Amino acid sequence: MELRFPAGWLRDNCPCPACRDPHSGQKLHTVGELAGDLTVTGVSENAETVEIRYSDGHRSAFDPAWLARHETADRIGDGRTETGKDLWDQIEPPEADWARYRADPVPILRSVWRTGFALLRGTPVAPGTVLQIARSFGYVRTTNYGDLFDVRTEERAVNLAFTARAIAPHTDNPYRDPVPTVQLLHCLRDAADGGESGLVDGFRAAALLREREPGHFATLAGTPATFAWGRLRAHRPMIGVDELGRIREIRYNNRSLQAPAGPAERLAAFYAAYRAFDAVLNRPGAMVTFKLAPGDCVIFDNTRVLHARTAFSDSAAAGDRHLQGCYADLDAVQWVAH
Ligand code: OGA
Ligand code: ZN
Ligand code: ZN
Repeated sequence: MELRFPAGWLRDNCPCPACRDPHSGQKLHTVGELAGDLTVTGVSENAETVEIRYSDGHRSAFDPAWLARHETADRIGDGRTETGKDLWDQIEPPEADWARYRADPVPILRSVWRTGFALLRGTPVAPGTVLQIARSFGYVRTTNYGDLFDVRTEERAVNLAFTARAIAPHTDNPYRDPVPTVQLLHCLRDAADGGESGLVDGFRAAALLREREPGHFATLAGTPATFAWGRLRAHRPMIGVDELGRIREIRYNNRSLQAPAGPAERLAAFYAAYRAFDAVLNRPGAMVTFKLAPGDCVIFDNTRVLHARTAFSDSAAAGDRHLQGCYADLDAVQWVAH
């Protein structure tokens, strides 16, 4: 066999029970405990096994199919990048009613993982239900807003989400690192007029930007932006990519983006790229729109899907629109769906 893997790689990844605890599947050694000058002293193979002998006297038996799977870069990663996802422009929102979801949450969680969002209909119209929904698949990510936050108009609102204004497509809490990766918005009362929800696939938009204006894509992927709210701040790119250049994380929020600093030509390049991405995000047909009715809950991947709402009327006669939101972690979704 032509040896395609370095000796140190083979030795560290030996599947034998002395190297990996058979119960947990975890490695029993650190890389530093293996000889640094290790060499392969012999190889023999048949259809089922590739046997390797090393200069430290150890032997490994590898499954040839397992080895073959590690030769190409497309298997690298954790399922969080664009390659593991179904990108969309217009789609029918994946949805389920509460009873069906409770009987089998897997299809909805798969949609959150692959499509980036799903709708639950007919959940209890009671304060706190959003926490019950989050706890049905994972753990609530408590922040300085508390376990949950109320989205309704407030006097002297600390966040424009708590006014009746339209909110442009954004991801939540980009000023936090780590950012909350799953978001839920649960409707207790809808507005008589307006307050419609919109979602945009940020991965799809970033992929289009890369196709149409690769220079702008490279600028956004390579330039961290500072987002802040109160004393919280995070310095991360709007388009996060992995080492193969695959889109992995979108952070986008016009409200909390801080003034970038630097030489004028860099600021101009950043703003040209920011405007270009904004145009792709807001291109006609990019947004899936729906109006949340009481008992509806939208669950989405906050590292990928941007959310928006139209302005609404907040006169007493129009009814007080009231949503409750909370955050959770994508790892709970990954556990079920990946
Ligand atoms: C938010 C938000 C959207 C809405 O609270 O983060 O974006 O529909 N709300 O009110
Ligand atoms: Zn071993
Ligand atoms: Zn928001």
